[in-house]
Amino acid sequence: MIDLTPRKLLLLDHYADGEEARHFSLRIDKPLAGDLAVIPGQFFMLTVPGFGEAPFTYLSLPDQQGRFNALVRRMGALTQGLFEQPVGAVLGYRGPFGKGWPLFFCAHRVLVVAGGCGLVPLAGVIDEASQHRLPLQLSVIYGARHSAAQVLGRERERWRQTLRFMETCDEAKPLERQGSPLDHFDELFAAEAPEAVLCCGPEALMLATAEASLQRGIAAHKIWLSLERRMHCADGLCGHCYLGTEYVCKDGPTYRYDRYLQVRGAGYPTATKQDQRLC
Ligand SMILES: Cc1cc2nc3c(=O)[nH]c(=O)nc-3n(C[C@H](O)[C@H](O)[C@H](O)COP(=O)(O)OP(=O)(O)OC[C@H]3O[C@@H](n4cnc5c(N)ncnc54)[C@H](O)[C@@H]3O)c2cc1C
Ligand code: FES
Repeated sequence: MIDLTPRKLLLLDHYADGEEARHFSLRIDKPLAGDLAVIPGQFFMLTVPGFGEAPFTYLSLPDQQGRFNALVRRMGALTQGLFEQPVGAVLGYRGPFGKGWPLFFCAHRVLVVAGGCGLVPLAGVIDEASQHRLPLQLSVIYGARHSAAQVLGRERERWRQTLRFMETCDEAKPLERQGSPLDHFDELFAAEAPEAVLCCGPEALMLATAEASLQRGIAAHKIWLSLERRMHCADGLCGHCYLGTEYVCKDGPTYRYDRYLQVRGAGYPTATKQDQRLC
């Protein structure tokens, strides 16, 4: 039987990290084996007492003591309630949920496209690649409305040292790169010729990225997105997160683009077994 009761989560620390966003250090009390087996791209349910429960992504994966980080943007009552919690507050935790990014594909050159807070679910993949734990040559392009809206300041500083990390702003200041990530695709594809694309951000950016990648010769089964839907149970019980016939909480939130199009009923053909091999 699925246990919907949250477990204890301690708020260890937090700091401002971008416009209306905070970086939180958290610790799962008495972590279980399953708490330590998280894959980048999975998510957890966070309870703020008195405000309810909502889904958030692991920014870093839980260590042996159950410590991990999250980045939260202030949206409504629950996130406002979280921002007001003092260090040491006891929160609630359920997780991990959903399917993470494909980590072990043999596509060596991977392009990561992130928009706004969409950088957070991709942080685990970027960290793994920048520490050479994955056999990937990763390039990242990160778009935000303007530089004050960018998140993960400390992580971006670190990533810039170890991999090709491009940043672009819709409203750029002098010396900043101007436009959306898509405006820089020609340059990126000319330099790297990626074999696969991972994308997370506003849905319009993800769909445009997928189409632009298809046009440049990347097959749909080598393009991955991460969807955001309203979630309640996070475990395939309540139906709040339906996408066609699937539950985004269980079957996603990461989707291969060909699978996404099939589920959306766009009549996209299933990739053959041959196609599905990524190396
Ligand atoms: C799998 C997943 C992972 C997520 N990871 C993160 C994360 O790492 N960091 C982060 O800041 N946020 C993340 N979110 C979004 C986060 O869950 C919502 O911002 C949060 O539930 C807002 O709660 P609230 O009570 O503060 O605001 P509400 O009052 O519930 O919402 C404020 C506004 O945001 C909209 N909204 C809220 N939740 C969603 C949603 N899921 N999809 C579309 N619109 C929504 C509402 O329609 C409303 O307009 C994630 C969502 C999902 C589904
Ligand atoms: S959130 Fe309940 S079924 Fe997905």
